[in-house]
Amino acid sequence: MSTKRGNWNSKLGFILAASGSAIGLGNIVFFSSNAYQYGGGAFYLPYFIALFVLGLPIMMVEFGIGTLTGKSFPLALRELAGKRAEFVGWWSIGSAMFITAYYIAILGWAFGMMVGAFGSLFEPGISAPFTPFETPTDSPSAMVYFFNLLATWWPVLFIFVIWGLNLLILRKGASSIEKAVRIFVPLMWVFMIGLVIRGLTLDGGFDGVMYLFTPDFEGISDASVWRGAFSQMFFSLSLGLGTMTAYASYLPRDADQVNNSMLVSFLNCSFEFIAGIAIFSLLFVFTLNPAGSTLSLSFFVIPQGINELSTIPWITRLFGFLFFFLIVIAGITSSISLIEGPASAMMDKLKITRKKALTIVAIPCAIGSVLCTLPIIIDKGLAGNGTLGLSILDITDHWVFSYSLLIVGLVESLAIGWILGADKLRMALNQHSKWNLGKWFNTLIKFVIPIVLLTVILSSLWNERTGLYGANVDLGSFNWLPWFIPIFWLAVSLSFSFYLTNKPYKK
Ligand code: TRP
Repeated sequence: MSTKRGNWNSKLGFILAASGSAIGLGNIVFFSSNAYQYGGGAFYLPYFIALFVLGLPIMMVEFGIGTLTGKSFPLALRELAGKRAEFVGWWSIGSAMFITAYYIAILGWAFGMMVGAFGSLFEPGISAPFTPFETPTDSPSAMVYFFNLLATWWPVLFIFVIWGLNLLILRKGASSIEKAVRIFVPLMWVFMIGLVIRGLTLDGGFDGVMYLFTPDFEGISDASVWRGAFSQMFFSLSLGLGTMTAYASYLPRDADQVNNSMLVSFLNCSFEFIAGIAIFSLLFVFTLNPAGSTLSLSFFVIPQGINELSTIPWITRLFGFLFFFLIVIAGITSSISLIEGPASAMMDKLKITRKKALTIVAIPCAIGSVLCTLPIIIDKGLAGNGTLGLSILDITDHWVFSYSLLIVGLVESLAIGWILGADKLRMALNQHSKWNLGKWFNTLIKFVIPIVLLTVILSSLWNERTGLYGANVDLGSFNWLPWFIPIFWLAVSLSFSFYLTNKPYKK
């Protein structure tokens, strides 16, 4: 091999990195708002079905093909299922880059809120214009603060900080990633457990838990709950974008991937539930109403609650700071994996250095992050979309998130199930596993998963018929964005994968 791929120094390093990838904005920001939107107790039955029927087996596939071939996603698919599968691999890498761009934009905002904890964000009764470290003027509420933050150029600076940290952690590959996750991953568990204890010991905190856990069998007849649970599971477990395959490719070939998949999924879903409990207990204690967009819950509803946690200002500030610090570190251990997927795929195929691959990924993605933080105000009402950046982010998220992960999941299960043969992968996994996968694994990969995913994808498409996503919001002179963004994403990601699939490749 001409390029050194690097390896994890220990199994623990891999587990920390993979669970750090899985645990991120998805577990804190998106899970809680999904669980709320889909009615708390109605959400977790579909959620667990999604975990066992879809999440776990696909993670075994993604981990399995990584160790089996020792290659990143597109080349692993090529080796096992041919060139057409490689094309889908590159398409997922292209889509991962779109997701990276806006994922880091959100982290930039979280960073801004973290900085704000030292300034006017957690000063009860006062808040607004966003000037970090400075004394605020009037109008309370974290919401005003958040939208004021979005309306400044500060987030552009913050996303460069986040990008810098990401590249620093990625500069040596597995070995430098391992160093970072050894600190960050335990730390985020400690903070989250602290938050949940604080939430539950407040008067009324337990009502939130009841809301989250009381089953609601009426809600589950609604197709959108199922769609929400399946996409949430894919995103939360970092599946469908080649991430887990890249991480697994740095493991020795005899790694027990059945066990690893169970461990990583278990860690991810426990964190998600603990985060859910923490957030719902705060919601109920302070009778907050999380109406509005996905980001609202973590970005201003919960901060509003934190504002009332204590009458001692520095304690409130410390809590607020730690809450956003938690989001930032949980997010960074995920964004590094989102970047590592594309970078390792390019290193493998183009035989370029890590530095060059990181540059090729970082430049367009960082431009995308800046676009998502453009503070040009297009909707003064702030009802749906405050700034141009927020609209770009929202529309991109709608298309890339709703479709690419699940489409890739569909194609990879078909490719592995039918072209390679599910049984071959099952045998390979069983060879090194304490816990043998039965024939049911083949049935899941060949039939159940493709049918479930196809149903979910088609039903999402069917839902689009009522009009183009985002077109109902008045975007002023940017009214072309709702059709431009999906076309742009498809055109760029498809030509990217066409180009890279056909690039000659010497082993
Ligand atoms: N799983 C992460 C989260 O919950 C995000 C993430 C990282 C991801 N890598 C991914 C999502 C790959 C999909 C695919 O925040």
